[in-house]
Amino acid sequence: MAARDDHHNHVKKIPLFPLLSLLCFASIFLVLSLSRKTSSNPLISHQSFQFGENPVTDPNVALSGTCDYSDGVWIYDHEPRPARYDGSCKEIFKGWNCISNNKSNGWELTKWRWKPRLCDLPLFDPVYFLDKYRNTNIGFVGDSLNRNMFVSLFCTLKRVSSEVKKWRPAGADRGFTFLNYNLTIAYHRTNLLASYGRWSANANGGMLESLGFKEGFRVDVDVPEGTWAGAPAFHDILIFNTGHWWWAPSKFDPVKSPMLFFKKGHPVIPPIPPDVGLDMVLKHMVLFIEKNLRPGAIKFFRTQSPRHFEGGDWNQGGTCQRLQPLSPEQVEGLFSLKNNGTNVEARLVNRHLMKALKRSGFHILDITHMSEIRADAHPSTSGGKKHDDCMHWCLPGVTDTWNDLFVKHLNNIKFRD
Ligand SMILES: *[C@@H]1O[C@H](CO)[C@@H](O)[C@H](O)[C@H]1NC(C)=O
Ligand SMILES: *[C@@H]1O[C@H](CO)[C@@H](O)[C@H](O)[C@H]1NC(C)=O
Ligand SMILES: *[C@@H]1O[C@H](CO)[C@@H](O)[C@H](O)[C@H]1NC(C)=O
Repeated sequence: MAARDDHHNHVKKIPLFPLLSLLCFASIFLVLSLSRKTSSNPLISHQSFQFGENPVTDPNVALSGTCDYSDGVWIYDHEPRPARYDGSCKEIFKGWNCISNNKSNGWELTKWRWKPRLCDLPLFDPVYFLDKYRNTNIGFVGDSLNRNMFVSLFCTLKRVSSEVKKWRPAGADRGFTFLNYNLTIAYHRTNLLASYGRWSANANGGMLESLGFKEGFRVDVDVPEGTWAGAPAFHDILIFNTGHWWWAPSKFDPVKSPMLFFKKGHPVIPPIPPDVGLDMVLKHMVLFIEKNLRPGAIKFFRTQSPRHFEGGDWNQGGTCQRLQPLSPEQVEGLFSLKNNGTNVEARLVNRHLMKALKRSGFHILDITHMSEIRADAHPSTSGGKKHDDCMHWCLPGVTDTWNDLFVKHLNNIKFRD
């Protein structure tokens, strides 16, 4: 017991320093933004961002020309500002519409702003975006978390340009063209990136049968799922993700319905666990994308979106009822690999992604850490399911900031000129 109390005291002392420095940053920032307000509306800023042009100028940053956008704090804006969009956007999946579903902090979520420590991340300007990316196709490829991000982008753009054609380009699950700009955005649904389907033992036997496998899922590590195989040749800008389904025993039960990996049409023998399969899939999909991409196309890979189940996993009564972002200590408690907690896959997936993308031409959209802090921003009980939804994000909400980051990166990349 004594040791435990010591531990607690120790833990309680640590937060003071980061807290004080955060307060310092917040107040410096507040003063600066107040003094700037007369000259420009922060919502509609057409100037393009220059690296190193920071309110808190760090000489190292100015010299090296980099800013770590994943290192920062969420700041609560007390003054009201126009929302990018609201619960009336029809494309918002019902369970994610926290405003319409009366989640108690549904509106509050629009007031939090991400402030990278050494630079700014302004809200992107949808009119400028539509204009700059005329005649462009943008594809989101991945699981429902990429759909969440796609919906955020759609709703933000729809607010300022309402003439859209709804269609399904190149096998997409959903898609829209903003007619006044000929800008198309689409969502291609794929859980694993690789093609997969039910597998059962063949009466005539085989390698897997001889090892005792009866049921499972066949995952072809070198075959992209048909829902997006045409996407690299169609889109000019692509944003990929995968991750949640690799650690989803409710579907891929290691005993009753394991993932069985195939390569060149044959089972991989000896059979490999999902994390090794993920590495193989990523390797092959990266090659496939690079080979099939349109000339001059830009590709992003988004890092893993964290879940916030506390008190158990999603099917064990886990919940996410917090109404405030987490402190740095709480974040480490939930996500640190050494704690091996319920949501540990967030950082594990990223290790696999970083390994696979290391010498590739992908731009990495690192949204993990900023999102880890936002335990308050999931639909929770307002999601309308039997269990809390602590995985997807309320809209409007955190994925709006992912899109700010996406647009910020995109605008810094040379595109078609
Ligand atoms: C949300 O609150 C409004 C107003 O009280 C009510 O009309 C509506 O039915 C509620 N919606 C849900 C999903 O509970
Ligand atoms: C619209 O954009 C697509 C994609 O870049 C392009 O192929 C097409 O020619 C454009 N259409 C018009 C009418 O400019
Ligand atoms: C992490 O936790 C899970 C479930 O609680 C357990 O099955 C697994 O063995 C643990 N892994 C490690 C490395 O401790």
